[in-house]
Amino acid sequence: MIDQAATDFEAVHGARPSGVWAAPGRVNLIGEHTDYNDGFVLPIALPHATRVTARRREDRRIRLYSAQGDGTITDLALDGLAPGVVASWAAYPAGVFWALAEAGHAIGGADLLVDSDVPTGAGLSSSAALECATAAALNDLYELGLSAPEIALLAQRAENAFVGVPCGVMDQMASACCTDGAALFLDTRTLEQRHVPLDLEAAGFRLLVIDTRVKHDLGDGAYASLRAGCERAAELLGLAALRDLPAGGLAAALERLPAELAPLVRHVVTENQRVAETIKHLDGGRIAELGPVLTAGHASLRDDYRVSCPETDLAVEAAVAAGALGARMTGGGFGGSVIALVAAGDVAPVSDAVRAAFRSAGYAEPVLFTAVPSPGARRLA
Ligand code: GLA
Repeated sequence: MIDQAATDFEAVHGARPSGVWAAPGRVNLIGEHTDYNDGFVLPIALPHATRVTARRREDRRIRLYSAQGDGTITDLALDGLAPGVVASWAAYPAGVFWALAEAGHAIGGADLLVDSDVPTGAGLSSSAALECATAAALNDLYELGLSAPEIALLAQRAENAFVGVPCGVMDQMASACCTDGAALFLDTRTLEQRHVPLDLEAAGFRLLVIDTRVKHDLGDGAYASLRAGCERAAELLGLAALRDLPAGGLAAALERLPAELAPLVRHVVTENQRVAETIKHLDGGRIAELGPVLTAGHASLRDDYRVSCPETDLAVEAAVAAGALGARMTGGGFGGSVIALVAAGDVAPVSDAVRAAFRSAGYAEPVLFTAVPSPGARRLA
């Protein structure tokens, strides 16, 4: 695979690459729409990753080629980068160059070949994977000495300020910092992290990922308006962020809030509690207990936060009815993917039940796969 990447790179860019880097997509186990509220998240990295094969250029040009693209090279001047000037997929890697330069790092140009098996528009963080793989490559090519969390923050800056999506830090932290065999328990305020061992297979379980193939898009304003709603609610409550509202103060806080903001706050506060509950179960080795917590998280996203859609609701419902211990949508919502915790022997019947339910509802055929916690951004060669 790595030899192939080098051969492909040479065919596109006319020279041997200096290395190959990879960064994964992610699913979040629990802790949804908490990251921009300074709360807690618990993602795992997927085995699916974006690979960036690269070499430095001395002329401060950036030449970007995607194996999934239209066969052309996007050629940009590093010094001409500014938010809004690059469209399409190239904005993600270009945004990373821009964010690094803007932060004062001594970088130059580069040739990149991007190749990814992270499904796009599926809520599995293909953007973060592309950003983090690019940042990891530039970190080594220009010997910047950045840590994994620093890579994540620069990648988030690229997405927020260059691409223009006001996402939190979860996806980039997951892609940059996750480790094999563990979930990443992250405090998004302090960035304090703990790798929580998660060997589902040894415990007799599987994590089934159901890509509903309803394309989700965080750039369309709904995500931004939810985020603004949370910030407004925190302001009305006199808090720095909703993370600062203790569960015991929830009922009183809800009475003080306008009707459109109260459910958002209820979701965020109860979701942070669900992360804590999940961690307790994982630390106690009680994996089966996660099931009901996941399903409760979905109900909260569906009824309070309102970011599920008929397809994700049906996937959850059908999976649980067919024996999954629990299921929930994962990621930003408005489509995308569902995760289901399933006993090893139930993967086939649960998958069949979800497919059958989609067929009878007249929905597109979902894509299903099982996922194990996989490594974060790294150099492959
Ligand atoms: C998207 C964003 C993340 C996070 C999730 C919801 O994936 O990129 O920052 O807000 O939605 O939890």
